[in-house]
Amino acid sequence: MTFDPNCDSDSDVTLSWLDKGRIPRHVGCVMDGNGRWAQRRGLPRTDGHSAGESALMDTVYGCLEVGVSWLTVYAFSTENWRRPADEVRYLMNFNESLLMRRKDELDENGVRINFAGRRDWRVPKKVLRQMDESADQTRDNEKLVLTIAFNYGGRAEIIDAVRSLLDSGAKSSDITEKAISKHLYNPDAPELDLVIRTSGEYRISNFLLWEIAYSELVFTDVLWPDFRREDLYKAIYEYQGRNRRFGKIG
Ligand code: IPE
Ligand code: IPE
Ligand code: MG
Repeated sequence: MTFDPNCDSDSDVTLSWLDKGRIPRHVGCVMDGNGRWAQRRGLPRTDGHSAGESALMDTVYGCLEVGVSWLTVYAFSTENWRRPADEVRYLMNFNESLLMRRKDELDENGVRINFAGRRDWRVPKKVLRQMDESADQTRDNEKLVLTIAFNYGGRAEIIDAVRSLLDSGAKSSDITEKAISKHLYNPDAPELDLVIRTSGEYRISNFLLWEIAYSELVFTDVLWPDFRREDLYKAIYEYQGRNRRFGKIG
């Protein structure tokens, strides 16, 4: 395929355009727009959540194809409890059933399933059990770490990190960036290189606040259920055109 920088079609940007030496190591996705996707089709909002499953799987396969080794997806925020009880219930059960349906497939493809978020009393026990089983089953996989941010809030994560530091006996002078990083939910995860938010919203909504300090942000109008690996490649292409300075002159 020939390179056309003026192209405006998502599917025109393909794998072959990407610089294989500069693939982001850690990509985050704010999977937004499920409700609007369903409403536009005259369907209940929850149908939009279930349609998001193929988007997630295709994004995982895209990461495996290009060599992204960490993918973190925002599935349920600490603020999403404010939604109607029916939708919250649906999202809890959906997370469990998606893991039941997909964990063997993810396992066979070398994906480690991992989680970030608060395990509080509001998350049903059976959902937590399925999360633990999926993580256990896939713990030795090394191709891609798929972290599902579930009952996750960036502020809550920072609070939890500081609390755990204090619980370990830290003094105020021990509260450093390094120490906080070590007490995050997944201290071994590299910081995010690229964050993609779908659905045309230009905000972070409490996703990974600490870890995205120097991430490149890419926003797309595509609604999450329509997102496919070509959209991931397009975002990576945009990322590769950015100049990451990390505060230096460059
Ligand atoms: C994202 O889609 C999924 C979750 C927040 C759980 P939404 O449900 O927020 O869809 P919109 O933004 O209302 O279209
Ligand atoms: C962010 O989407 C959370 C997830 C995708 C899980 P929201 O739809 O909850 O965000 P806001 O409310 O539009 O900021
Ligand atoms: Mg939304």
